[in-house]
This record gives sequence, C-alpha cells and structure tokens, in this order.
Amino acid sequence: MDRATVYVKQSKMSEMGAEQFIKQILETATWRDNCNVLDVGCGPGNVTHDYILPILPIRANSIVAIDKKANLVDYANEHYGKKSKIQFKTVDIVKDVQTLDEYVNHFDHIFSFYCLQSIREQETALRNIFKILKPGGDFYFSCDAQTNLYEGCEYLLGTPEWEPVLRDYKETMSPFHDSESPAQDLEELLTKIGFQSVYVTMERQEFLIPMEDLPEFVVVQTPFDIPPEFEEKFGQACVDTARTLKLNRFVDGQECCYLQLQLLFGHQRKPIASAQKPVF
Ligand SMILES: C[S@@+](CC[C@H](N)C(=O)[O-])C[C@H]1O[C@@H](n2cnc3c(N)ncnc32)[C@H](O)[C@@H]1O
Repeated sequence: MDRATVYVKQSKMSEMGAEQFIKQILETATWRDNCNVLDVGCGPGNVTHDYILPILPIRANSIVAIDKKANLVDYANEHYGKKSKIQFKTVDIVKDVQTLDEYVNHFDHIFSFYCLQSIREQETALRNIFKILKPGGDFYFSCDAQTNLYEGCEYLLGTPEWEPVLRDYKETMSPFHDSESPAQDLEELLTKIGFQSVYVTMERQEFLIPMEDLPEFVVVQTPFDIPPEFEEKFGQACVDTARTLKLNRFVDGQECCYLQLQLLFGHQRKPIASAQKPVF
C-alpha cells in the first residue's frame, strides 16, 4: 500500500479534529461572493474534500489545495480532483516563492489544518500566507503545539539502533513545543506579521489509537521521513516504546496507544488597510 493510501486509512484523528474545528469556524465565518479559497498542507486531500469543501459556498470561484509532497498531491488529484472543482497542486508554502507570487492578495479564505507544526520556518510560511491573502480575507488554522509522540522519539533517540535515524527529528518538532505559552507566542508572531487576530486558542485533546494501527499511524503522521527500509521496524519499535513508557491503555479488551496533544486553533484576518501598504 502506498503512503497516501495508508495516510487516508490512518486519518481518523485528523478527521475528528477537522470536524471539531469546522464547527468552530462556522460560528464566525462569513463567506465572500465568488471567493478564492486555499488549503495549505492538504495531504492526500480527504480533509479538503470531505470537510472544507462542504462548508464553502457553491458559488466559490476557485478552490486550490497545496502540499509540498508530490505523491500526496497526485493521490488527491486522482481521488478528489476529478470529482470536484478542487485543484490540487504541489507547492511548498515556504520555498515556492515564484508560484506564491502569482497569488499575491488573491485568496479570500485560507485554511490550514495540522500543517504548521511541521514547518520550522514558521515566520516565512506565515508571511507567505499573509502575502497571498486578500485584504479583509480570513486565515483559519489548527496545528499541534505539543504532543507526547515526542516522548517516544526521545526514548528511541537514546538507543543505538534508532539514533542514526532520529538524530535530526527535533528539526521537525513544532516550533512551540518548548514554549510555556504557545498560543500567546503564536499570536504575537501573527500580529508582528500584520494579521489582525480574531482568536488563537489552545486545547488539550486525547486520542486512543488501536495498537495494531500504531505502526502505520506513526509512519505517516510523524513529520520526519522514515526511510522506507526502516518503516516496518520503526512501527514495531514504536509499539514497544509505547508499552515501555506505559502509554498503552486497554479499552474493552483492546490495547490502544494514548496520544495527548495540545492543539492550537486560530482565526486571523488581513486588515483591509494593508491593501495600500506594500507587504514587505
Ligand atoms: C499532518 S498532514 C495534514 C494533512 C491534512 N491537512 C489533514 O488535516 O489531514 C500535514 C501536511 O502538511 C504538509 N506540509 C508540511 N510542510 C509543508 C510546506 N512547507 N508546504 C506545504 N505543505 C507542507 C505535509 O506534507 C503534510 O501532508
């Protein structure tokens, strides 16, 4: 099974998060006529298609969804692009400056679910989002601030077998992992960039992943790439680690891994006045 297929199979957590955040978004959202919409970090496209698309006005002008991973974008085009008006494109929100420059002040509504935590160059990504947002437009995001998944990485990093594979894992950790007040730090950064903050909130969430799903789940959900030849062994090492760290729980006789996340949710707006000012 290819990674995109496994990703969709193991995306219950993303889907639950999306469902919850969509309800929150709908409380404050006002859609613009003939709007241009963007989803940043769309992965294999299931959340864009099944959760974001249904809340958008039918008269939306364009819906673009981007991800830096070409294999996920190919899957999204194949499975969701053909049956909807969503255009899935391989674009890196940090690096693909030329492509992003084609969209300056273009999007009325930008979404990004569970993506920002894996971008170290957070400020550059947020500045690029600000640049392509239309003045008066909205930016809705969710991302991890902290997660106990890293306890497992830290444990494995201390073993001779996994140290070479996990040596650089901290480079993909949420920039807010060690922050004492992630929501406040992120809001300050957004305000510095020029966003007008409607809200940034942080919520603690807990999930139970059936232990039999954990090997696939960690391989597709960890923000760092596990070399394909190590995938199977890494999955099993994570199961062993979850047990060693006592992160396993039994629910109705089924062994599960207990995941705990601190999730950031935000709604930001680009001020109308920024239309007159150069963005940089
Ligand atoms: C955890 S997945 C979330 C996918 C989807 N939004 C969801 O809710 O299921 C994060 C996605 O962000 C993408 N991503 C990470 N950094 C990115 C970047 N710099 N530019 C575009 N996409 C990025 C990853 O490739 C990955 O597919």
